[in-house]
Amino acid sequence: MDHFLYKNGVLHAEDVALSDIGAQVGTPFYCYSTATLTRHYQLFTEALSPLPHLVCFAIKSLSNLAVLKTLADLGAGMDVVSAGEYLRAKAAGVPGERIVFSGVGKTREEMHLALTGGIRQFNVESEPEMRALSQVAHGLGLIAPITIRVNPDVDAKTHEKISTGKKGDKFGIPISRAREVYAEAAALPGLEVVGIDVHIGSQLTALEPFEAAYLKVAELTRALRADGHNIRRLDLGGGLGIPYARDNSAPPLPMDYGAMVKRTVGDLGCEIEIEPGRLISGNAGILVSSVIYVKEGEDRDFLIIDAAMNDLIRPAMYGAHHDIIPLNEAEAGAEQRAFDIVGPICESGDTFAKGRNMPAVTEGALIAFRSAGAYGAVMASEYNSRPLVPEVLVRGDHFAVIRARPTFDEMLSRDTIPEWL
Ligand code: LLP
Repeated sequence: MDHFLYKNGVLHAEDVALSDIGAQVGTPFYCYSTATLTRHYQLFTEALSPLPHLVCFAIKSLSNLAVLKTLADLGAGMDVVSAGEYLRAKAAGVPGERIVFSGVGKTREEMHLALTGGIRQFNVESEPEMRALSQVAHGLGLIAPITIRVNPDVDAKTHEKISTGKKGDKFGIPISRAREVYAEAAALPGLEVVGIDVHIGSQLTALEPFEAAYLKVAELTRALRADGHNIRRLDLGGGLGIPYARDNSAPPLPMDYGAMVKRTVGDLGCEIEIEPGRLISGNAGILVSSVIYVKEGEDRDFLIIDAAMNDLIRPAMYGAHHDIIPLNEAEAGAEQRAFDIVGPICESGDTFAKGRNMPAVTEGALIAFRSAGAYGAVMASEYNSRPLVPEVLVRGDHFAVIRARPTFDEMLSRDTIPEWL
């Protein structure tokens, strides 16, 4: 459920016509709905209640400060994976005790930053990282709360580029070695073991892989407690998928996920943390673009649009599907024909959809990519020296530009020509 609906013949974000935003901001632009972000966050907290829990939004999916503040004001925690994300969470007003730090390659500088700025826990991914964190924390005279990310060796049955919980993936330590690694952690200075972490992948469309992983975590909790560790938090990661195509069978809902969490780990008396990104932000955002040309090719027709793979890389990178709809409802109802929908970038990979049935829109028509809130703007680049796509946040009947499109002067001024050139 989201708040991008046709009203009076035009696609709206909540109560704002997207064509009005386009007239002011120009295209392409990302637009996010406050009501949808809020709803999705609340679905998770409702699903996990009454278990003690913290929903830590995975900032990597959508990191604009205004979005983070929207969620932080609701009480959300944040899952960060870099100094930049940590600083974004802080700048959005998230207290350190609601920030968890994930990622396989945390540097000593990042550890220092988070330890001195305040952190709920580090999700440690390897023994070398654990030893480095021990040194940094001990050197500062501080204690780093940690979980250790275990790799449960389950098949998440998702795209190979976003599967993270199989043997051979770079993430976590093998669950079979967990007890010895926890024993070392307990003996190292500057560390305090608080729980276990697991994250098996992204865009999961079934509960079974989660369930298999969480059952292994429950078993490990009991074993580690028997070894004398005070396991009181379980970070169960993110990964619940969203429906990208309206005609697909939908992935499980947060409510079903919550019931499964209760079934698998609910009796352990642990505080539950989850790190959803996509389910909160994915369908809370769209990318609006204009048709530059309708080109009739030899064996196919092309819609050449002003958004490109640098603005939304998911189709080029993962072969991902995004529904694409016209802003004008009359066009949506018009007769359809097949188009390849492509951007202006000079490579064939700059293709959003092949042979997609679309109404025969004309030059200048506005179209929207649905489900573009997660891993959209955050993965954008300036490839082909295209300005970074701006972001807009809607709440009710008003909107604000929450990241402006850079000017060409700003883009060029970031480069320096050395004086000896
Ligand atoms: N926690 C950890 C440790 C993660 O690595 C991730 C995502 C999440 C949480 C959030 O997962 P989510 O709930 O959003 O599925 N760029 C790809 C997705 C990469 C996901 C990386 N890790 C895409 O566009 O599909």
